[in-house]
Amino acid sequence: MLQLAVLGSGRGSNFQAILSAIQRGELTGVSVKLVISNNSAAGILEIARTQGIPSLHISQKQFATEGAFVDAMLDVLRAHSVNFIVLAGYMKRLHPRLVASYKNRVINIHPALLPEFGGEGMYGIHVHRAVLAAGRPVSGATVHIVDEEYDRGPIVLQRRVTVAPDETPESLAAKVLAVEHGLYPEAIRLFAEGRVTVTERPIAVHT
Ligand code: GRF
Repeated sequence: MLQLAVLGSGRGSNFQAILSAIQRGELTGVSVKLVISNNSAAGILEIARTQGIPSLHISQKQFATEGAFVDAMLDVLRAHSVNFIVLAGYMKRLHPRLVASYKNRVINIHPALLPEFGGEGMYGIHVHRAVLAAGRPVSGATVHIVDEEYDRGPIVLQRRVTVAPDETPESLAAKVLAVEHGLYPEAIRLFAEGRVTVTERPIAVHT
């Protein structure tokens, strides 16, 4: 059973897509236990409240130290029996202690085809501007496992969209978001069905 915490900072449309997939019966063995946002005004918290899902505003600013913040996050995740974390527009880097506690059990969705167009500063409309500036004929969405670096962990699923000749960053954003809403529930289903395995490959040393 996947018992999710969904972490987000903004409107929450991916969270809504995941909820809808659960409600349609497409994600058996998955339940959302908790929603956390660092932003008290985030739409994702409002969606959770409307749906009767426990939701919390937790921000590092509420704590004297980073360590106390991480402790509080871990306590709250454990108190809600969370065993899998879904980042859906969460704008903060996850502390290594959190990543280690949920090793290979944290995923993120990114609005481009990683490993290109990811990393610090590559979020929202900046991503789509960069794709167009580079003249790429395709873009897409990526679901990946989260490690200590932005947008870097192993890739789980990707889906492409075609970039139209008259594409704008805004039109590309809308196209990619529509793809995300199908891709994220699909990726979660792979985990729920136990079909994702992460293998640690030793680094080959050639002499
Ligand atoms: C999505 O585009 C996602 O790829 C990125 O943040 C955005 C979140 O949108 N990580 P929403 O809050 O799910 O609507």
